[in-house]
Amino acid sequence: MAKIAILPGDGIGPEIIRATIDVLEGIATQFNHKFEYIYDDVGGAAIKKYGSPLIKKTIDLCRSCDAVLLGAVGDPAYDTLPAEQRPEKAILQLRKSLGLFANLRPACLFNTLIDSSPLKRETIADIDLMVVRELTSGIYFGEPRQRIAAGVEIKALDTMIYTNWEIERIARTAFELAQKRHKKVTSVDKANVLESSRLWREMVNKVAKDYPEIELQHMYVDNTAMQLIKNPRQFDVLLTGNMFGDILSDEAAMLTGSLGMLASASLGSNTPGLFEPAHGSAPDIAGKNTANPIATIMSASLMLDYGLHMKPEAAAIRQAVEMTLQQGYRTQDIFSKEMTCIGTIEMGQRVKENLSNIPHVS
Ligand code: IPM
Ligand code: MG
Repeated sequence: MAKIAILPGDGIGPEIIRATIDVLEGIATQFNHKFEYIYDDVGGAAIKKYGSPLIKKTIDLCRSCDAVLLGAVGDPAYDTLPAEQRPEKAILQLRKSLGLFANLRPACLFNTLIDSSPLKRETIADIDLMVVRELTSGIYFGEPRQRIAAGVEIKALDTMIYTNWEIERIARTAFELAQKRHKKVTSVDKANVLESSRLWREMVNKVAKDYPEIELQHMYVDNTAMQLIKNPRQFDVLLTGNMFGDILSDEAAMLTGSLGMLASASLGSNTPGLFEPAHGSAPDIAGKNTANPIATIMSASLMLDYGLHMKPEAAAIRQAVEMTLQQGYRTQDIFSKEMTCIGTIEMGQRVKENLSNIPHVS
């Protein structure tokens, strides 16, 4: 039996998680598994309940489970709190305390959604890229970070810092993944300006020597942002630091039709992985049963694949999602004419039902 920590979080978090649990229960039935779900609160929900976005008990719970599935955090009610107390702190602290240094964000297009992308069909047909984002260092965690007020002048600073071994281990993750994919790594940096990027490039080149069969390309981040729109099919694995990956993964998500489609896996070594959609808590549509749960459902698929070593089960989820889209069901963010617009919970139910229509499922 797999034990899964479930952290619905804020905004649309609870509804997209509910839809995803339906799908996981479908997997449990089809494949004769039993999943145990242990719920806890993080983010704004935890501020309300415990007075803090992430308490130690929740971290301990995550450590004791086989995997962690998270909805979303972020609540405008707490936007004015200092950084340390904001809901987003929960996710940053969870990543750091579980040592989840590798964030995998696969952007692949469901063919049925090709017309939902803002880009032309021929530009995005068959894109299949994976952002491998460093997640526990860089400017997100660098010290010092502070505000300095001197008279009328106020300064604020963050520190972009990388250590050689931090770059090496994330580069290794990227090269290992590329080996199982299309054997190409594009490493993203700003080495024409930043010292930390120059070390980044040096370390990536060093790791590349161990992977002679992988094609390595270095690309400045500004050019990468442009190339993702111009010719996204050139990319296989995009290796990035923490902040560049945050930015480029939203862009990559949009190529696939909607930010509501991009799943993510955060992995460390000898620690349970954290699986969450790459989008935020969308407070404007929270509680309306209109959010797209597919990014979370696909995160559950990544959880089965990378976290629980259930590959056929992971593939079944993907196929069931594809089938549901083929049947014309859409949430409003990916709706187009002649399709059937359905809500968050119904999307989960349709995917679950389709699990039993997949031929090879035992
Ligand atoms: C993401 C999110 C987070 C990040 C926020 C919520 C802290 O944007 O996972 O991409 O910046 O990493
Ligand atoms: Mg982001």
